[in-house]
Amino acid sequence: MNMSNNGFYGNFGGQFIDDKELLEELNNIDKAFQVLIKDKNFQDELDYLMKNYVGRPSPIYYAKNLSKKYGNKIFLKREDLNHTGAHKINHCLGEALLAKKMGKTKIIGETGAGQHGLALATACALLGLGCDIYMGEVDIKKAKQNVDKMKLLGANIICVTSGTKTLKEAVDEALCAFKKEYKTALYAIGSVVGPHPFPMIVEYFQSRVGMEARLQFLDSNLTLPDYVVACVGGGSNAIGIFNGFIDDDVQLIGVEPLGKGEKIGQNAASINYGKTGIIHGFKCKVLQDDNGNIVDAYSVACGLDYPGVGPKHCFLNETNRAKYVTINDDEAISAFYELSRKEGIIPALESSHAVAYAIKLSKTVKNKKILVNLSGRGDKDLDFIVNNFPMSKYL
Ligand SMILES: Cc1ncc(COP(=O)(O)O)c(C=O)c1O
Repeated sequence: MNMSNNGFYGNFGGQFIDDKELLEELNNIDKAFQVLIKDKNFQDELDYLMKNYVGRPSPIYYAKNLSKKYGNKIFLKREDLNHTGAHKINHCLGEALLAKKMGKTKIIGETGAGQHGLALATACALLGLGCDIYMGEVDIKKAKQNVDKMKLLGANIICVTSGTKTLKEAVDEALCAFKKEYKTALYAIGSVVGPHPFPMIVEYFQSRVGMEARLQFLDSNLTLPDYVVACVGGGSNAIGIFNGFIDDDVQLIGVEPLGKGEKIGQNAASINYGKTGIIHGFKCKVLQDDNGNIVDAYSVACGLDYPGVGPKHCFLNETNRAKYVTINDDEAISAFYELSRKEGIIPALESSHAVAYAIKLSKTVKNKKILVNLSGRGDKDLDFIVNNFPMSKYL
């Protein structure tokens, strides 16, 4: 497994934190994690939960109807079928087990679309941990169903009303709470972002997706895919599936949200439109204005509207190992409807960006094998989409 070099991936990542006690705690978390992953009992427990609680391995489904229409073989890695409906549970269970091992009594987390929050609340209910979830007021309204589920599972939802009232501010406040409560709580970040060791920890747990996918794909197709496509918010589902194919001759494609357009403030495509900077204690491509102020990110998919991005993605981009493209709101919504109609699978709006790119790519290449990470299911998005973006406009 490809660990970072002291928290750096090339020029990106690190620990840009000036609080000495917090730095020490981050190093304690790193040490505890290193011990934990070598512990056979932990690995056995994780494997058991992944199989019997989450429902892994998630299948790879050949999307026959979509493939026929677009002239390529399109496959979906069905993370939407996991317990709680997305890939987030893969790292949340790992993070919660780590918290238990470290003797913490509570998990602090943030959420955008509610999927990370829901997965954390689930892991905390299972393992008997307290759970505080920070969530922007705007996202709370969009993902009401997930909020109700988190409350049902026993989590406290802290409504964030600063700034754009979305994911960035939720991370700001969750980090602040962690600074105050780290003696008893573990911060379980929702993606491959934040100061070291958080990106490395999330990457480790998500890599199961790619390892699994590579074996499954070879097993049923006797060859590897030509393309692996995944949406990129912070980048956890993308890193997870990319890692399975990183040493292969497979084109890795991360899909960033172009939202309403290319202008600053209209999208959340940090690699395509950001500049190197520091956000939430790590260095990456950040959406910022000419004076270096971080600007608001926007995407119709609230799990993608983060102005930074995982440091390893910045590195993969810079070294040309992966390519980062964009898909706008309308293209993602069309794909949301199209996958529902053609395959009977309602994708999360985040994942719809990856599906949309597989469709777009099919206009330029033919007879290729495209593996899409279907990171989550769209139940959470249904009311919002149906009420605001009627199908008649998109199909
Ligand atoms: C279903 C789904 N996919 C993707 C994402 C984006 O996160 P990441 O880029 O870390 O995979 C989210 C975030 O909430 C999500 O809910």
